[in-house]
Amino acid sequence: MSAGYKAVSWTRSKILYDVVLIAGIVAYITIFFRFGALPGPDGLSPDAPTLAMKAFGSCGFLLLTIVLAIGPLARLDRRFLPLLYNRRHFGVITCAIAASHASAALGWYFAFSDLPPLKALFAADTSFGQVSGFPFVILGVAAFLILLVMAATSHDFWLTFLGAPTWKSIHMAVYGAYALVVGHLALGALQDARSWVLPAVCAVSVVTLILLHLAAALSQNATDACIATASSPPWVVAGKLSAFAEGRAIVVHLADAEPVAIFRHDNMLSAVTNVCAHQNGPLGEGCVIDGLITCPWHGFQYRLADGCAPPPFTERIATYRLALDGDTVLLDPQPNPPGTYVEPIRVGSPVA
Ligand code: HEM
Ligand code: FES
Repeated sequence: MSAGYKAVSWTRSKILYDVVLIAGIVAYITIFFRFGALPGPDGLSPDAPTLAMKAFGSCGFLLLTIVLAIGPLARLDRRFLPLLYNRRHFGVITCAIAASHASAALGWYFAFSDLPPLKALFAADTSFGQVSGFPFVILGVAAFLILLVMAATSHDFWLTFLGAPTWKSIHMAVYGAYALVVGHLALGALQDARSWVLPAVCAVSVVTLILLHLAAALSQNATDACIATASSPPWVVAGKLSAFAEGRAIVVHLADAEPVAIFRHDNMLSAVTNVCAHQNGPLGEGCVIDGLITCPWHGFQYRLADGCAPPPFTERIATYRLALDGDTVLLDPQPNPPGTYVEPIRVGSPVA
């Protein structure tokens, strides 16, 4: 297998995304240093390295929470979709912030050990059998290593080289990283927290993420509830025509096969695989822009009739045959080779 390296192509929206993100992080760290240095209830102010460790650590935790919230938010409300398109930049910046936290922690917490900091990290505390006093730092290290692997493989080169399923499995490990960070906090900083702020932020973040994922799953079940049922072979019933809204898709789930997205555009129906050729994004959750199916994840586009990306792009996806039986839409579950033209079926007059 070989894959050519293509430099990241910067667009106005990518630059704007990064500028807003970095400005937000700088504002957070500045405010943290300004107010975090004030004396606490015990009259003591934290020293500068501790302040830096806390500022970057809490910033990294919040960024990770936002990264995981973007997916369900975009499913629940399409206005969040622009946040999804450049989520990889978010991930790389989160890793850089976590690295700053780790460097501040290593430089200070292990500064007085006889061992070099990296050795002290693993050798200083091995009391794994207890909750209070558990070596929580190891959990932070494991989370950081996951973020590092994700950041290092975030470029499209790795996507092409590893293939979308492997690449996606690696990047799903972000949920594992989040769980490890929650463990890092629960077994470390939260055990002797002197203020309610960190426990409250941690609890609200975790509960919000769980609720958002549940709400997104429920809403998706409600819109995707179309399970193909048998009709006369080779056709399966995809649904009643009235269920297909203009400009949107219905996703049909087939037994042992990729789901199919059936789009209604300009009162014509066309069917393509629901799986985007870029990173397996759910095309049926996208929309039709300028007559092209637009993936909700990173905006790859495909023509409705033949599943080909418009020139100069070369991606192609599988298309499917459709038929009408009265007001029932029928689908041939056998995919056509990617890029095969299928005449869309007209179901009403062209939209003015
Ligand atoms: C090599 C990796 C890491 C090391 C060596 C490390 C080390 C530490 C240490 C020594 C503490 C101090 C705990 C205390 O004072 O009780 C800490 C706290 C913390 N860590 Fe990490 N950590 C790492 C990774 C991470 C990652 C990946 C995140 C989040 C993305 C994170 C978020 C936090 C937070 C939020 C705190 C609590 C800060 C506070 O007390 O306000 N850490 N970490
Ligand atoms: S998955 Fe990236 S554009 Fe579709």
